[in-house]
Amino acid sequence: LFASVDMAPRDPILGLNEQFQADPNPNKVNLGVGVYTDENGKLPLLACVKEAENVLAEIPKPRGYLPIDGIAAYDKAVQSLVFGADSEVLRAGRVVTVQALGGTGGLKVGADFLKRLNPSARVLISDPSWENHRALFESAGFDVGNYPYYDAAARGVAFEAMLGALNQAQAGTVIVLHACCHNPTGYDLTPAQWGQVIAVVQARGLVPFLDMAYQGFGEGIAEDGAVIQQFVASGLDFFVSTSFSKSFSLYGERVGALSVVCESKEEAARVLSQLKRVIRTNYSNPPTHGAQVVTTVLSTPALRAQWEQELANMRERIRSMRAALVDRLKAHGVATDLRFITRQKGMFSYSGLTPQQMERLRAEYGIYGVSTGRICVAALNTHNIDYVAKAMAAIMR
Ligand code: LMR
Repeated sequence: LFASVDMAPRDPILGLNEQFQADPNPNKVNLGVGVYTDENGKLPLLACVKEAENVLAEIPKPRGYLPIDGIAAYDKAVQSLVFGADSEVLRAGRVVTVQALGGTGGLKVGADFLKRLNPSARVLISDPSWENHRALFESAGFDVGNYPYYDAAARGVAFEAMLGALNQAQAGTVIVLHACCHNPTGYDLTPAQWGQVIAVVQARGLVPFLDMAYQGFGEGIAEDGAVIQQFVASGLDFFVSTSFSKSFSLYGERVGALSVVCESKEEAARVLSQLKRVIRTNYSNPPTHGAQVVTTVLSTPALRAQWEQELANMRERIRSMRAALVDRLKAHGVATDLRFITRQKGMFSYSGLTPQQMERLRAEYGIYGVSTGRICVAALNTHNIDYVAKAMAAIMR
């Protein structure tokens, strides 16, 4: 039966974890996957999460099936975080939110729904984009193309080229956009540029699908989510997938959501019925624990304040690692202008290193980053940064 089954390639990101685990090098450093580790290289259990788990453990509940679209209070909490507690689209009942298995789950539920809705549509993702965007939309049956995004020479966004490509896209094309902390480049659009993108999307009848996996890791929760307000203000219908994997350090709980902004409450009810169909035929309904934790934190003022502080601490530590990386690279003799590292936002630095250089980092130093040159700055700490900077400097020579 399986004689003709080919060996699939390793996942470009999660496959690195497997390689990393198998590497006997005692100095190895995992800068591949987008996971925040603390000053001691440990995955944090946030204090607000621990406290919420204590609260939940005091009133243990049986685990029945959740509704197909998840815990109602969770969906509501996601909505007020993403759209703002007194958002007019929420008041009008125009937003549908379903609990999903992480941000990836939210993207896939949206992709499957869109495929049923408009089977002949194309999808455009940024060039480059998160490796899984292409695979995910292709697995939903879409033909996936790119719009230009990264300007390597300018170390920034190739904005005119991006706008030009969007201007060429056919009506109905799904445009996948990174709401903040662009993965992998770390370069985001300015509010004025977002305004121009929205105008093109509107003029050409495109379908915006915002991926917001890193809210709070750029400038702050509200600042990073501001683009959602711009889309709401435009009156467009749009999709937004969100994730608490990173912002709550709840990676393994798979806590995310998909929200869809519709034209009316009545339309939202029909969209919800279709999203539920997609979920039911994939995994029936979502799991309980992580969503209960997030709901408890977001709806308890003291825990919420604690979460915001803990998220700010993660953001600030990443920032200090960016500055330290520039400093250490210079100290190890790299003469080129490295200020781009501190301009990038979120967990990653798009280092500009080639696939060959990334391979040398792995083979010679046990330093694992994505072959595209993306390194996870959130996994640097004062104990490993000098080793990493020295290795990078050596291969840049
Ligand atoms: C990443 O880009 O490393 C993260 O989003 C984790 C993943 O699932 O790829």
